[in-house]
Amino acid sequence: MPYPAYMQESIRKVEATREKRLKEEVPYITVEQRKPLLKENHPDYIEAGIRELLVGPNKGDRTRNELADLLEGNSRIDPDKVGLIQVDYDVDVLVIGCGGAGASAALIAQENGADVLIVTKLRLGDANTVGAQGGTQAADRPNDSPVLHYLDTVGGAHFTNVPELVEALVKNAPDMIRWLESLGVMWDKNPDGSMAEVHLAGECVARSHCCKDYTGLEEMRVLRDEIKCRDINFLEFSAAVELIMDDGGRVAGAILVDLETNELIVVRAKATVLATGGIGRLHIQGFPTTNHYGATADGLVLAYRAGCPLVDIDTMQYHPTCVAYPLPILGLLVTEKVRGLGAQVVNVDGEQFANPLEPRDVLSSFVIRECRRGKGIETPFGQAGVWLDSPLICLRHGEGAVTKGLPATVRQFARFGIDVSKKPMLIYPALHYQNGGVKFNADGSTPIPGLFAAGEVEGGVHGKNRLGGNSTADIFVFGRRAGRTAAIWAKGAKPGKLTLEHVRQWQRELTETGLTSIRPLSPKILPDYARQPYDYLADYVRERLALGQIKI
Ligand code: FUM
Repeated sequence: MPYPAYMQESIRKVEATREKRLKEEVPYITVEQRKPLLKENHPDYIEAGIRELLVGPNKGDRTRNELADLLEGNSRIDPDKVGLIQVDYDVDVLVIGCGGAGASAALIAQENGADVLIVTKLRLGDANTVGAQGGTQAADRPNDSPVLHYLDTVGGAHFTNVPELVEALVKNAPDMIRWLESLGVMWDKNPDGSMAEVHLAGECVARSHCCKDYTGLEEMRVLRDEIKCRDINFLEFSAAVELIMDDGGRVAGAILVDLETNELIVVRAKATVLATGGIGRLHIQGFPTTNHYGATADGLVLAYRAGCPLVDIDTMQYHPTCVAYPLPILGLLVTEKVRGLGAQVVNVDGEQFANPLEPRDVLSSFVIRECRRGKGIETPFGQAGVWLDSPLICLRHGEGAVTKGLPATVRQFARFGIDVSKKPMLIYPALHYQNGGVKFNADGSTPIPGLFAAGEVEGGVHGKNRLGGNSTADIFVFGRRAGRTAAIWAKGAKPGKLTLEHVRQWQRELTETGLTSIRPLSPKILPDYARQPYDYLADYVRERLALGQIKI
C-alpha cells in the first residue's frame, strides 16, 4: 500500500523544499502565544465533550464525557451476593496491573519482605509500557542536572504539576536508570560506553535513555523476566472489579473476575497498589489511540468508588505524530525520537509550520490547525494528516541513520511498502496519555489508607501536559516508591473485618442522583470492540460441539 498518486504529488513538494529546510529553524512560540493556539485547536477545549461529575469525591469537577460515564458507572458486583468470608488469596501486597509500574512495585515490595501477588486482566507485561518507544528521561550527564529536568517538566506542563512529585521524579530518575541496567536493560551506548541519550520535545538537553525505538519493550522484557525468576505470584486474565475495604476505612484487597470462567476471586491484602495504567482505549473525542487494549480507566473507577479524589482529569494528551496513513496502522505511535533525530513536520506544500520539538499539546494544536486550514493531506478514508519528513535524518546523520535509530518504525511502515528513510510519514495526533489521575503522594501513598498508586493511573506528576520520556521515568520511579511504601505499610497493618459497604453506599448515591439506569457498568475492563470473555467461552463450546465432546 505505497502512497497513492495524489499523495506523491505532495511528497514531491516536500522533497523539493528539503535541502532548503535542512538549515531552517522555526522558533518556539512564547507561553503567551500558546494560549490562543491551544484554546482554538486542542481537543481538551471542545466544550461539548466535557461535563461536570454529579457524584463522588470530584463532584462538581469537569472531565471528558467518556470518563465521566465510567466514573459514575454501576458496580459490576452485587455486594450482598459476594461472600467475603471465603478468601481465595491472602497476601501482604496486592499489585493490580502489570506494566512497568506494577512490575517495579512488585519487585521492590518483595525485596522489602512482602508476600506479593500481581493480578492483571491481560497477560503479564501486556501494557502501554511495551509500546513506549522514544526513551526514559533521567538527568545523568555532566551537562545536565535534576534541576534542568525539573524546569523542563514544569515548563512543558504550564506550571500545573505538583512540585514535590516532580522533585521526586527528577531526583530518583538517574538511580532508576542504573537499577534497570543492573537488571539487564540494554541502553543505547556510545563507543566510549557512555549513555547515548536522545533529545525529546521539551528537553533543554538530550536526556532520554533509549533502546533504539523499542525502549519500553526492552524495559518490560527485563522486568517480566525478573518477576518470573523471583517466583513472584501472578494471576493473568483476572480483572479487578472492586476494591475491598475493612471496617477501619482501609483498602484491604480487591474482588477480581476470572475472565475465562467469569468466577469471582477474593483477594485480601494488607496493602494494595493500583498500577492499572490509563484510559487511551476510551478514544476520547473519537480520536484514534496509541494505547494497548487494557487502557480503559479501571483503576480510576476503583479508586474513585473507594473515595479517592482524582486530579487533572480535565486534560488528556494527544501525541502529535501518530500514523494517519496507511489505515491498518491508524493511530500507531510515531515516536518523538524521529523528531529528536531531526525530522521536521511539514504541510501539503512542503512548508514547516511549527518547531518540531514544541511540547506535545502545542505541536498537536499546530497540526490540527494546519489541517483545518486546508494545508493537510486527506487520506482516501477522509482522515487528514501532515508529513513527518524522516528522510531528513539521513541527510543530517548519514546514510543508514533511520534504520539504525528507528528499526521499529522502519518495520511498521515497510509492511505497507513504505521506506521511511526515503519517504515521509503521514501523521496526525492520536490519544496517547491521561495526564492526570489518582491523587497521590511522593511515596506512592494515596489519601485512602492501604491504597497506593504508581504509573499512568496516578496524577499530579505531569500536571496538564506530560513531556515525552517522563512516562516511563514515572512508572519506574513511582512504581519502586509505591512498592517500598506498601511493603512497609503491610508490616504494621492490622486489617479489620472485610466489607463492601462502600459499594452499597456508592449505589445508593447513584440511585439518589437518578444515575443508576443511565450509566454503564464499570470498570469497563475491555473496549467495546474487543472480543468479550463470553466470546471465548462461546468459541470453546462451539469447538467442543464440533468435536462431539459435548452434546446439547
Ligand atoms: O514519542 C514517544 O516515543 C513517546 C514517548 C512517551 O510518551 O513518553
